[in-house]
Amino acid sequence: MGSASLLLGHAHPDVVSAVTEQAAKGSFFADCHPLEVEWAGLIQELIPSAERVRFVGSGTEATMLAIRIARAYSGKNKILRFEGHYHGWHEFVDLGMKAPYDRPSSLGILPGTVAATVVAPPDAQRVAEILEQDSDIGTIICEVSGANYGSVPLPFGLLGELRRLADAHNAVLIFDEVITGFRWSPGGLQARDNIIPDLTSMAKIVTGGMPGGAVGGREEFMALLDPTHEFRGRKPGVTHKGTFNGNPLVAATGAAALKQVKTGEPNRLADAAAERLRSGMRKVIEEHQVAGAVYGEASTFHVYLGEGAENGSVEDLGAEKIRGIAPEILYAMRNGLRQRGVDLMSHMSGVTSMAHSDADIDQTLEAFEDTLREMISEQLVGRA
Ligand SMILES: Cc1ncc(COP(=O)(O)O)c(C=O)c1O
Repeated sequence: MGSASLLLGHAHPDVVSAVTEQAAKGSFFADCHPLEVEWAGLIQELIPSAERVRFVGSGTEATMLAIRIARAYSGKNKILRFEGHYHGWHEFVDLGMKAPYDRPSSLGILPGTVAATVVAPPDAQRVAEILEQDSDIGTIICEVSGANYGSVPLPFGLLGELRRLADAHNAVLIFDEVITGFRWSPGGLQARDNIIPDLTSMAKIVTGGMPGGAVGGREEFMALLDPTHEFRGRKPGVTHKGTFNGNPLVAATGAAALKQVKTGEPNRLADAAAERLRSGMRKVIEEHQVAGAVYGEASTFHVYLGEGAENGSVEDLGAEKIRGIAPEILYAMRNGLRQRGVDLMSHMSGVTSMAHSDADIDQTLEAFEDTLREMISEQLVGRA
């Protein structure tokens, strides 16, 4: 599923003709292009916060630009981000990507970047306390599904609280909708739940499965990129460049994909496929009396194998327990499925597309059940 970029499935005919028609006309002109305007217009229509749109080269670049705008606008150096949330691989968001959260995940990260990053648990009370104590935090960024496209779901109500706290503390709120954008609904999580951030990072589905990304945002924030707009004595306030941003090939596939998304049909079909898969997997787990849960929003699914999931929900388990599944269980599941022709996006999580047929889902469920049987016989999983 192209790391969750292919809501329309592989080689959707509209996307294929968009890219081939444009390739025949030319791949790149190093200037603005009508397709770029059409693509941006579709994003504006769908994503509520996207009063203005800027194109970038990837999801990593989208969060990097959004954070730069947020720092410039707030005039404050520090960002607040959440434990285990993934926002790409760049310097600004390395600390906190994975446990231990007080140590960068990589060598080569500047101490200054670490000092400017505050990693919080997804808990509104803790966020409120941190913001109260540290007035140099001017940016809040969040994976709106919860960490890793929802494998660790957010507590109910947290995003609304973040909106309120950001306003109360003059912080810029960034929703990272690289995965949820166009998947949680055609307008992402923000349209579905009507919680509107200041800036939104997008990639994956927004390009129709080609390399690229976008930042959308309210006009007052995006104006910092405008060379005619003076901000704190600078024109523009924020520098942003990039050779291939919004190039015609990607603009063509992005516009083609979003025209489909706008109809609501891709979401309806992909969500139905995922629901069929989730309930089928739940049934398999129950029938084999294996301790665990199957969950996920929209067209995603996550499997948890272990004790403590109440009524099929992982809400009260906490991140450490969800992430604490033993590596041999993760590998057994992934390899067992692969041997049976099913490859998931992560070890025990994945996404569906509008192209998945009932037969695809049935094949996946069969592979899941056979793999689980094997894991039971090897005593890798516990009984409920
Ligand atoms: C929520 C989120 N943000 C940012 C990124 C980074 O995007 P990219 O891999 O296009 O740089 C990802 C990638 O998976 C993501 O899931």
